[in-house]
Amino acid sequence: MIEFYGGEPMGLTLKEMIASFTKCIDLYNYLLKNHHRRTAIAAYRIGMAMNLDEEALSNLVLAASLHDIGALTVTERDQMVRMDVEDPYPHCSLGCYMLESFEPFFKISRIVYYHHWHYEENNNFVPKYGEVPLESYILHVADRTDILTHHEQSVLAQKESII
Ligand SMILES: [Fe+2]
Ligand SMILES: [Fe+2]
Repeated sequence: MIEFYGGEPMGLTLKEMIASFTKCIDLYNYLLKNHHRRTAIAAYRIGMAMNLDEEALSNLVLAASLHDIGALTVTERDQMVRMDVEDPYPHCSLGCYMLESFEPFFKISRIVYYHHWHYEENNNFVPKYGEVPLESYILHVADRTDILTHHEQSVLAQKESII
């Protein structure tokens, strides 16, 4: 249960609060419509297959549910795809900044910061943000899978090209 100033419980769990944020993001930016929900489900499945413990799995799903919160103002689909591949740093760092000041979101802010980090750059992390969490790599795979999927076509027919 979340508590706010004065210690009064809001009758709201962290997951319920994040689900509300995700809906707000989707409403504000139509290009992100359902992207967070689909990415969170894919990340959850990958995390389950990798036998992540309960805390890591929970952080992964929460981070996936909010990971592009720093990209609210991106309005063109081409720009969105480019943003993910060519210059992901601004929306990763802005998203991290937006989340880190709220203590329950601190861990997921680090996952969000690194969610476009390449696996081979593992040793090249940013000292200020510490080592790259495993959850960031899982989120990256789930995210790319969703971005590369044409949702008006059969998903299974696109399997080879996505892989
Ligand atoms: Fe992203
Ligand atoms: Fe994304």
